[in-house]
Amino acid sequence: MSSKILAVCLALLPAVSVGWPWSRDMMNQISVKPEHGPDSIRLFPQRSVPMAGTKVLIHLHDADAAAKLLNPNPPTVESVQRGKKFYQVFCTPCHGQSGTGDGLVGEKFLIRPFDLTAENEQVTMPVGYIFGKVMYGDAIMPGYGNDMSPSEIWDVVNYVRHGLVSDSAALAAVAAIKKP
Ligand code: HEC
Repeated sequence: MSSKILAVCLALLPAVSVGWPWSRDMMNQISVKPEHGPDSIRLFPQRSVPMAGTKVLIHLHDADAAAKLLNPNPPTVESVQRGKKFYQVFCTPCHGQSGTGDGLVGEKFLIRPFDLTAENEQVTMPVGYIFGKVMYGDAIMPGYGNDMSPSEIWDVVNYVRHGLVSDSAALAAVAAIKKP
């Protein structure tokens, strides 16, 4: 009986936890938020014109749908460098500086974060799929669509494909020297 309940829970798990926007958790607290205090309601200046904003992703719902996307940012040195900065902020806790899944948070997981330096992630996987994973997350991995613009996510994709492997090799070389 209990194994049946476990099986049902496991089956439901990915569906309920996909793409937690957990990086916003700290917003939900009792402190006064901008525009919610007693004097904070300011009317728009007269003659203000509402703007529609820009639509960056049309009809895209999940990582699988993103797989067919083509990368609009060529992997220039600048793009890869920008991507590296974002990778270090958002991805290293789990995938590690090395990309192999040895981050301090990742080490605690039952399912280790996938090795981003492996052939599957470096060669086989379409770049759009990597973009989709970062945008929407997966069963355990959170989505970063709230934290980075689509262009910044493409920079991260460029770093994963055009910088991570050589950085990872350099780290391994340094570690090998340190170990007697
Ligand atoms: C909280 C830990 C965590 C963070 C942070 C994280 N990931 Fe992940 N990632 C995972 C886990 C775990 C998986 C395996 C799939 C799953 O169960 O979620 C994964 C899977 C992936 C995959 C899919 C690989 C495959 O073979 O399907 C890609 C690509 C990826 N991560 C890239 C990134 C990038 C880029 C970042 C930073 C923007 C990032 N991840 C941040 C935990 C994380």
